[in-house]
Amino acid sequence: MKAIAAISSLLLLGAATAQEIQSKPFYLVIQSANKTLNGEKLAACHSGAAIESLCLAGSSSQFNLNTTTGEESPIKGQAPAGTLVWKLPYSENGETAYESEPMSFYNDPSTNVAMPIFEPSYNMQQVMFDEQNRMGIYSYLDDTVTPPTGGTPKILRNWYVCETYYTGYTYTTLNWVMGDATAKPQNPSCVKVQVERSFV
Ligand SMILES: *[C@@H]1O[C@H](CO)[C@@H](O)[C@H](O)[C@H]1NC(C)=O
Ligand SMILES: *[C@@H]1O[C@H](CO)[C@@H](O)[C@H](O)[C@H]1NC(C)=O
Repeated sequence: MKAIAAISSLLLLGAATAQEIQSKPFYLVIQSANKTLNGEKLAACHSGAAIESLCLAGSSSQFNLNTTTGEESPIKGQAPAGTLVWKLPYSENGETAYESEPMSFYNDPSTNVAMPIFEPSYNMQQVMFDEQNRMGIYSYLDDTVTPPTGGTPKILRNWYVCETYYTGYTYTTLNWVMGDATAKPQNPSCVKVQVERSFV
């Protein structure tokens, strides 16, 4: 009786909430024709209260991908998208605790260069990793045609390393250029890169 009650409440739970699974930790490594940048690891850099950008500072951070059970990929043979997370350490009663922060894009209306940031938020930008471990984003929208369509999923990899200014911080950060695969950054410091996942 008790067992049945436990099982049925588990089933109810399963139906109500899809389960979040966290990947093993990984580094994010830059690949670029630019020899200064190639092989460099990304780090979470303080950019405000509990806000971090992804920067090149000679250090490295570990990240995870949170995916949802049962989630399917929009493209056959590719992995489903998930939430890129970084664990912000903080002190609680003298002990180190962690806040899991999702990645989202910070968009300033005056530029087409969007900055990935980690902060406590319901806002998140989903990413995916292809069979070569390259980070990308599933794109559905095509508004370069009239009428616009949303039926054909594609993978975009509009990653650039640029000098950015954000709330008083000037860093060399990872960025996303808004637009389709032909989009070009207006920030003249931007260098085209790919971002590769490398498990710890
Ligand atoms: C290579 O990247 C570095 C760091 O972003 C930059 O200072 C330099 O101008 C880049 N070189 C070329 C040839 O783009
Ligand atoms: C990611 O998944 C872990 C494990 O389920 C969870 O503890 C954490 O809160 C999740 N992070 C976010 C930002 O959803």
